[in-house]
Amino acid sequence: MVEILREGNVFHLRNDQISYVLCELEGGVLAHLYAGPRLSKLDPVNRLRHAGLPVDGFSVQECALDKLPQEYPSFGLGDMREGALTVEAPDGSCAVDLRLVSAEILQQKPALEGLPATRGEGAAALKLKLRDAHTGLEAELNYAIYGDCPVVARSARLTNGGDAPLSVTRAMSLCLDMADDNWELITLTGSWARERHLHRRPLVQGHQGVASQRGASSLQASPFMALVRRDTTEAAGEALGVALIYSGNFVATAEVDHYGATRLLTGINDNDFAWRLEPGESFQTPEAVVCYSAEGIGGMSRGFHRLWENHLLPKKWVGKPRPVLLNSWEAAYFDFDADKLVAIAKAAADAGVELFVMDDGWFGHRDDDTTSLGDWYVDKKKLPDGLKSLGDRVRALGIEFGIWMEPEMVSPDSDLYRAHPDWALHIEGRDYITSRHQLTLDLGRQDVQDFIVDAVTTTLKDSGASYLKWDMNRHFSNIGSSALPANRQKEVPHRYILGLYAVMERLVKAFPDVLFEGCSSGGGRFDAGLLYYVPQYWCSDNTDALCRCQIQYGTTLVFPASTMGSHVSAVPNHQTGRVTPLESRFAVAMGGAFGYELDPRKLSDEDRKQLRGQIDYAARTQELRLYGDFYRLLSPFEGNDTAWMSVSKDRSEAIFTFVRALAQPNAMPPLVRMRGLDPAKRYRVEETGEVYGGDELMQVGLCCRLHPFGSGDAASLLYTLKAVDEA
Ligand code: GLA
Repeated sequence: MVEILREGNVFHLRNDQISYVLCELEGGVLAHLYAGPRLSKLDPVNRLRHAGLPVDGFSVQECALDKLPQEYPSFGLGDMREGALTVEAPDGSCAVDLRLVSAEILQQKPALEGLPATRGEGAAALKLKLRDAHTGLEAELNYAIYGDCPVVARSARLTNGGDAPLSVTRAMSLCLDMADDNWELITLTGSWARERHLHRRPLVQGHQGVASQRGASSLQASPFMALVRRDTTEAAGEALGVALIYSGNFVATAEVDHYGATRLLTGINDNDFAWRLEPGESFQTPEAVVCYSAEGIGGMSRGFHRLWENHLLPKKWVGKPRPVLLNSWEAAYFDFDADKLVAIAKAAADAGVELFVMDDGWFGHRDDDTTSLGDWYVDKKKLPDGLKSLGDRVRALGIEFGIWMEPEMVSPDSDLYRAHPDWALHIEGRDYITSRHQLTLDLGRQDVQDFIVDAVTTTLKDSGASYLKWDMNRHFSNIGSSALPANRQKEVPHRYILGLYAVMERLVKAFPDVLFEGCSSGGGRFDAGLLYYVPQYWCSDNTDALCRCQIQYGTTLVFPASTMGSHVSAVPNHQTGRVTPLESRFAVAMGGAFGYELDPRKLSDEDRKQLRGQIDYAARTQELRLYGDFYRLLSPFEGNDTAWMSVSKDRSEAIFTFVRALAQPNAMPPLVRMRGLDPAKRYRVEETGEVYGGDELMQVGLCCRLHPFGSGDAASLLYTLKAVDEA
């Protein structure tokens, strides 16, 4: 059930689980009333009285806006908190006073021009039109509520309805004024090889949150935040998550004001941002989604997972098997030729791998990372017979061929840069600054977009690749474009992202059968914006089993297992030097879209023999692992043990993973309480043959007994549970 009710001046969006309520006050001021569990009705008087405001006779005089919970506020007209919108008028003033002009309940959720957004099947949508009399600015606030998940989606579209140019210097996607500050804030932050680590801290008066001004949503922060009550756990309590469907500079902040009210804001980062609107021109913000659960952080995550699966990820790949792949990066780095790659591919094919991916190093004269990005023609020294020949040789082994590209970049040492130095982001008259010896192409330019589409098209066609790893390995500096006038230079980062989406849109349409996997120095830019185009994303360059417990655990807060590329790599691990058992590397990699990142020829005979069994297991459990309901059980951020499980929708099957980081002598084996099972069913643990009641597994737990002595560090259990008829 999903509906949008309009009673007088109150708009009530609701489904079976949640309500979102707002209302129009005198003069067209838009107040936010509520976002939370479903309500039958909400009386605005009560909510506004709490904020110390009269409903009748409400007036913006006397700084009343400072107390008013609002939908899309601006700073500077009495509200002292951070605003959602700042627009510079020709007179130099920046405040905007939006008043409701009209409201329309729509049959269909409109698509967002030029931006990825949730698809509106089964959603009810509301469009509110507001206007600022002083500047002529018009704002369209779009809302959608979904019937199948506890989610409201929001975005804003701004149009210059006046007769002079305006400059939008801040345009958030969402503002959510919460009544109290009795919350803790969860964010996901990190770095290269340490992506999406979970942090939780109580809110305090002032600002807190995450942001990126790196040009990408980044390794360092994810466009996500959640408020949870102090006693909220994985399994119980309130959790309200906000995610932004965007891949560029962003902010996500919680501001607690002096009355103890909390304002959440998320949208494009306004640092170094401005967008010029000529009369009649429009600006569309990205979409933000709010996901509420009373069933803890886990409930919120499952809400997000369902939203992305049902309404965002490319339909063609949702619910579908993913090929088990072997990627050449850690197997060969830049040091390969065709014969070596084919030999690795053959060993992989013999073990049951379904797709061989040639990573970096096949083009220009790229023997290291100092050169050739942009020169997307084959290095004849390494591959004398070209891409087609290599692809054919791999396919002759009975497996698919995939390829790596980093299309958004250019090396100063490249034919492309020599021919088009102005295609890189740059500031005229300043020296360029490289990172990983490379520059960023200016994707806001149409000619650059066309070049990228051509280069990728040719590469895919020449090689016959059925998979493309789309990498992006540096953040922005020298942020300028020779294609834009001085007064539009602050548009560069957002135009870049719009260009990236335009390129992606063209390519995924042109190659509907190619599996695209995103990557950005591992899991940088792992965000809902790109997941609209690519169904999976390389989760991290760090494939160490213990580090991956944290990275994958954090990632699942927002994203489902099917989106996380997770591979078994060699030991000692190339990022940490740690040696972990193959079983544990496998158990952890089973948490996502599975593959290998190693040279199978270099494995011991014993390890190599295990590959076939692993791949069979991965295929057999694929649907359950990737598309089941996901439950985090033990957090690697809180202790020595990690556990998670995935349960089939009909609760007849589950897969359970347990990892102990450091071996502990003379310790009792933990009882790990499972979740999501049917308490009335009995389940057989396939690996041990033991049978337990679902209620027992959830209330008492499963005794996770690793080998009692000398199991070593990074020991693990990987169990499949099947419901049995036995009474
Ligand atoms: C990035 C990626 C790696 C690999 C290298 C190649 O670091 O994250 O997986 O593709 O680039 O240069």
